[in-house]
Amino acid sequence: AHQWRGVINEYRERLPLLEGAPTITLHEGGTPLIEAGHLSDLVGAQVHLKYEGLNPTGSFKDRGMTTAISVAAAQGAKAVICASTGNTSASAAAYATKAGMTCGVLVPDGKISLGKLSQAIAHGATLLQVDGNFDDCLTLARKLSEAYPVELVNSVNPARIEGQKTAAFEIVDALGDAPDIHCLPVGNAGNITAYWRGYGEYTTDAVAAPGGPGPATHRPRMWGFQAAGAAPIVLGHPVDQPETIATAIRIGNPASWQQAEAARDESDGVIDKVTDEQILHAHRLLSSKEGVFVEPGSAASVAGLLLMAERGLVPAGARIVCTVTGHGLKDPQWALKTADGDEVVPTKVSVDAVSAATALGLE
Ligand code: F0G
Repeated sequence: AHQWRGVINEYRERLPLLEGAPTITLHEGGTPLIEAGHLSDLVGAQVHLKYEGLNPTGSFKDRGMTTAISVAAAQGAKAVICASTGNTSASAAAYATKAGMTCGVLVPDGKISLGKLSQAIAHGATLLQVDGNFDDCLTLARKLSEAYPVELVNSVNPARIEGQKTAAFEIVDALGDAPDIHCLPVGNAGNITAYWRGYGEYTTDAVAAPGGPGPATHRPRMWGFQAAGAAPIVLGHPVDQPETIATAIRIGNPASWQQAEAARDESDGVIDKVTDEQILHAHRLLSSKEGVFVEPGSAASVAGLLLMAERGLVPAGARIVCTVTGHGLKDPQWALKTADGDEVVPTKVSVDAVSAATALGLE
């Protein structure tokens, strides 16, 4: 019997950092690339969704956590720590458990979704609710990892970026080449950094790429999108009080800021911002028109694509991939908040009563 073996086993020759390390895996990666028919029609291009919500803990973080925890295990680490807007903490907690390590997570008090909070606790992490924002949490986590024998597993850990680059490999493997444009949400900017590295290493002319040249003939333009209330890269300066309903990307001073700018500039790309309203519109469109349920932060990629289309900047027929980074069940309240109100129909236990509910179209 065959099953997807996880990103380390599937791409081992391209992950030299993992040499000699044990493989701590929950069989992450191997996520579907889904054709988005409605979106394609809307923007006049061929749009695909890389559905990262289908990873073991429900977000793309698992790709980088399998590698970070495996490298930490090779170094004899007994404990890991991270700052998080939620998904990193859920992932770190799960992989630390798998490796028999303890895990401490620093999260901004009241600003992470219930699903993510539950995951970290379920996996036995020590949850430290910090009276501050994500940026404060990351500063604290860095200091703690310097002062104590705990491994920092945020994306400033090089093994995280290594693991996350595998998503670009999977996209090229699925399409037969790189897309023309890649859209994704930007928060701490680790993921845009990782994709850009992955695409770079997977081209036919890659010089000294680990594992040799790859199948892609070109690299895509990288289009990254921040939430308008948390858009330091767009504004060109840190944001002290970042605000957005997309708590996953509520970050005012991204750790991989320079790498994100490099990905943008080297790819002739864009980093722009989308409002909460645009994010919620894209969130609803994905679930109601494409059948793909994501968390609000994930919808920033699609909101950004729609914005670029509105401005007439989407080349006709272009092949476009939008990464949708986390599962809708992480933060399900938004589906209800943006509903029209006629979706829920109270009814008696009676065939007549139910058939009278016109919303079902039974007449
Ligand atoms: N989408 C989701 C669902 C996220 O959880 C994050 C980041 C991003 C996008 C942005 O990715 O930081 O690599 O630019 N979440 C981190 C966390 C910060 O702590 O879970 P990025």
